[in-house]
Amino acid sequence: MAEFKEISPNANGGEKLMNWVDNRFPATKLFKEHMSEYYAPKNFNIWYIFGSLSLLVLVIQIVTGIFLVMHYKPDAALAFGSVEYIMRDVPWGWLIRYMHSTGASAFFVVVYLHMFRGLMYGSYRKPRELVWLFGCAIFLALMAEAFMGYLLPWGQMSFWGAQVIVNLFSAIPFIGPDLALLIRGDFVVGDATLNRFFAFHVIAVPLVLLGLVVAHIIALHEVGSNNPDGIEIKANKGPDGVPLDGIPFHPYYSVHDIFAVSMFLFVFTAIVFFAPEMGGYFLEYNNFIPADPFQTPLHIAPVWYFTPFYTLLRAVTSEMMYVLIACVVVGTALAVAKAKIPALFKGLIVGAALAVVAMMMAIDAKFWGVVAMGGGVVILFFLPWLDNSPVKSIRYRPTWHKYLYAAFVINFFVIGYLGTQPVSEIAGRISQAGTLFYFGFFILMPWWSRLGTFKPVPSRVTFTAH
Ligand code: HEM
Repeated sequence: MAEFKEISPNANGGEKLMNWVDNRFPATKLFKEHMSEYYAPKNFNIWYIFGSLSLLVLVIQIVTGIFLVMHYKPDAALAFGSVEYIMRDVPWGWLIRYMHSTGASAFFVVVYLHMFRGLMYGSYRKPRELVWLFGCAIFLALMAEAFMGYLLPWGQMSFWGAQVIVNLFSAIPFIGPDLALLIRGDFVVGDATLNRFFAFHVIAVPLVLLGLVVAHIIALHEVGSNNPDGIEIKANKGPDGVPLDGIPFHPYYSVHDIFAVSMFLFVFTAIVFFAPEMGGYFLEYNNFIPADPFQTPLHIAPVWYFTPFYTLLRAVTSEMMYVLIACVVVGTALAVAKAKIPALFKGLIVGAALAVVAMMMAIDAKFWGVVAMGGGVVILFFLPWLDNSPVKSIRYRPTWHKYLYAAFVINFFVIGYLGTQPVSEIAGRISQAGTLFYFGFFILMPWWSRLGTFKPVPSRVTFTAH
């Protein structure tokens, strides 16, 4: 136990109260460690605001969620009506509901930008691998949270979207049908499904999410923030032990982030007040019709933030399986020809590849579509070990790396857009090319990330006062 600190009897009331608290709870110590004596690189740019904005949206979702739960009824017969009641009769209910529905999309906007910043500046690399892994787990939890939340209004899209996605699980060999039954709690999406999704959406997943966010920030503060130059500021410390290129998070970045928050709120409130449906992208029009198990909507599409991954799922047709098998065969042949490993290991690789090809031929393409959709997210976890580039930040990489990143982003938008559209011959082909590019970008990264002429990385961060 730390020793009790005495305070001068002449100190003012506030100081005495703080001293009383500090002798019992490390309030000042925590504030110093994480705010006023947390030294962040002085060259942060606009890309560094999205972490704080993600925290803000998390708080908005929790607070508005609490008020929605006060009036919402998790019952298949009452759910749709209770949401209409919130919108029309509950004082300010429309505002709370639109803040929550817009908040869901805003969450994905800021998190996607936050992740892209990590990709650009190599923030996932040593020593920040765990920061990244916690981040990826947050992303998975966020997807689960959004998916289950979307069932709750019990509209046509809630019902049919859940029906399509839960049915995918039944494509898993052996355990699939039982797993789908376990998730639904019934043979079709019904009241039991609504009740369990409600439990997960309001308490189980938010708890996990909060725990992961705390772990994410603790891990970040343990190693310190990266920056747009990808330079470790801890490598250059002054005689006082403070990094020469570091500035205290509070007040410098707390003020900076408050400014970002006010800019964000301008946009957020403009959407909440003037375009909460966002042309059917944030709230789908079909979801204003109550769920009807006897009437399948003509076109079922997930909300925009899931659509890139939905395209990965739809791209895997039985025809596409031949292309994927060819990729496995060529990849294995190259690995065996190039790798300097004992013959025994080469034999094992060939054996494993043969087993995979046999499975690819034996199991239905629908299952491999599910694998592609899940794999699209899971592959992000491996990023710290896929990138072999000698520098972290995009700033010091060869120019063509920048074009490659730009192509990755454009491709992500294209497959995202295609995921909102009905299937067609041409869209199908583009989706398949986009899927190959998406996975190729990551799987071939160990090879391409080393290629090209890298620029020299300065020893101090680049910063011009503004
Ligand atoms: C609820 C969601 C999230 C919250 C509240 C959150 C919060 C934060 C905060 C406050 C920071 C420090 C400020 C900043 O660098 O922007 C940060 C940094 C970071 N986050 Fe997140 N984050 C979330 C999701 C994610 C996800 C999904 C990923 C990646 C998959 C991720 C990866 C990172 C990385 C790599 C850093 C360190 C960046 C650097 O130092 O350059 N985060 N996060």
